[in-house]
Amino acid sequence: MDRNLAMELIRVTEAAALAAGRWMGRGDRKGADQAAVDAMRRAFDSVQVRGTVVIGEGERDEAPMLYIGEQVGAGWAHPERQAPRVDIAVDPLEGTNLCATGAPDAISVIAMAEDGKFLNAPDTYMEKIAVGPDARGAIDLRRSPSWNLSAVAEAKRCSVEDLTVIILDRDRHQELIAEVRKAGARIRLISDGDVSAAIATTKASTGIHVLMGIGGAPEGVLAAAAIRCVGGDMQARLRYRNDEERRRAERMGIRDHDRIYKLEDLAEGQVMFAATGVTDGSFLRGVRFFGGGATTHSVVMRSKSGTIRFIEAEHHFDRKPDYEWMTWVRPAPQRAS
Ligand code: FBP
Repeated sequence: MDRNLAMELIRVTEAAALAAGRWMGRGDRKGADQAAVDAMRRAFDSVQVRGTVVIGEGERDEAPMLYIGEQVGAGWAHPERQAPRVDIAVDPLEGTNLCATGAPDAISVIAMAEDGKFLNAPDTYMEKIAVGPDARGAIDLRRSPSWNLSAVAEAKRCSVEDLTVIILDRDRHQELIAEVRKAGARIRLISDGDVSAAIATTKASTGIHVLMGIGGAPEGVLAAAAIRCVGGDMQARLRYRNDEERRRAERMGIRDHDRIYKLEDLAEGQVMFAATGVTDGSFLRGVRFFGGGATTHSVVMRSKSGTIRFIEAEHHFDRKPDYEWMTWVRPAPQRAS
């Protein structure tokens, strides 16, 4: 995959973040998500790939755009130009509630891998453990949370009490939270957004060392793509809520329902990952609007080189014909009654 594609990806996440950014704090998670999806879909039309969405907004009958199996990218219109065939994983707005309430860490995300290299994860839950590069090789999802915390502490040459574990604040995590507390580690509970949380484990300045718990499976593949680029580690296992989810997984080719997926099983080969902040977060700043434009803060990474680039961009809507849509994605102003 050409490294210039990395910049193309940023344009796509920037477009989605700018669109969703208009909806921050408006209490409308679906409106925010739809704005991000529309903008991302439109932006894809200028990316020179023949992409197939493998992680997207759902199956074809439930998502009009960015559905699993949808072909995206400018390359399909000109097959003679041989644009690369790639797997695309997207979450135009990861943390829809975070955006709707203006809470931290809503982001727009894309990952790209060579054809057939992402796990085709069904839209079920996934149990995850993720760590940064200095604890690579120290985790094992078959073992208990306390075993993993001791192993991570040993790898990081610190004590378990020095570790901070990030966990989604859900009833299903009561036992996990009790065990982590018993082991002595500190906990940061979050209301949403375990892709940001997984990425946070890879950056020392966030103060987060381990992600544990059950979140969305598609989000797990996106997190794995980012962690592949940074050189951290992750393991995961699918978790189903009912037989229908199990059957859905089977239809997507999954046979071993208890399989532990290692990092490379989730995202293999050459991978690129890009994200743009929608609301301010521990890793990325959110969209800031000014008269006639906005600033965005993004990260783009490639597994091949391990380069991580943070990009601050200033967008002037009147000078970019392709940003004309920003004028009409804006939600209608609410008048005080
Ligand atoms: P959305 O962006 O779809 O709202 O998902 C947010 C999220 O918190 C993910 O980060 C996480 O993986 C998943 O939801 C957890 O699902 P649930 O809210 O059902 O526990």
